[in-house]
Amino acid sequence: MKLLVSVYVLTLHFVFGTFDWESCPKVTVQADFNITRYLGTWYELIRNEDMRYEIGECDRANYSLNSDGTVKVINSEVRDGEWTSVEGYAYCHKWNPAKCHVSFSKFAPDGDYKIVSTDYENYALVFSCFDLAFAHWKWAWVLARNISLDVTPFISQIESFGIPSSGLHYTQQGNCPDGLY
Ligand SMILES: *[C@@H]1O[C@H](CO)[C@@H](O)[C@H](O)[C@H]1NC(C)=O
Ligand SMILES: *[C@@H]1O[C@H](CO)[C@@H](O)[C@H](O)[C@H]1NC(C)=O
Ligand SMILES: *[C@@H]1O[C@H](CO)[C@@H](O)[C@H](O)[C@H]1NC(C)=O
Repeated sequence: MKLLVSVYVLTLHFVFGTFDWESCPKVTVQADFNITRYLGTWYELIRNEDMRYEIGECDRANYSLNSDGTVKVINSEVRDGEWTSVEGYAYCHKWNPAKCHVSFSKFAPDGDYKIVSTDYENYALVFSCFDLAFAHWKWAWVLARNISLDVTPFISQIESFGIPSSGLHYTQQGNCPDGLY
């Protein structure tokens, strides 16, 4: 199972995402990021279409604190009518806490997770980029506390990272089965 997850993450890193030459774009992140205010449940409204470890709908993330100060990450989504979850952890840079890494398996490389902007109570724009030699792959997410958030203001910002709007998936959040937060 663990091996499967790592192969998945490796595949994600090497094959999918928005590909571009040159190295990762420099992206400004949320100033004075406060992880405590970021904890709790977030609903995914937008993700890259080519996000191979998220293939379902109703995606949500639950962030809570582990006793060692890392963040416990539980990502859940509905696949074929059933809830499925994957658990991992995240840790953030001491001096720039909006720059974090998420890991879903100790065998897999850590994924970059940057909080570009958030007001903690309504929206979060997250960007991830993976550099390899003279190329990079990148991903973006719009997360919301409430599924009725208007996502239009985020599209041009995502495009400014070099991710075309045609490559975005609008996660379905209506008619999700009960049974999970
Ligand atoms: C972060 O947010 C929490 C909860 O609102 C607050 O208690 C804490 O003082 C904040 N930390 C900083 C460094 O502002
Ligand atoms: C989400 O927003 C809608 C419309 O503004 C509101 O009716 C609803 O109570 C909100 N839901 C939550 C969980 O805050
Ligand atoms: C989020 O995860 C924490 C830790 O596992 C758990 O205590 C909490 O109930 C979860 N929150 C929701 C809304 O499911």
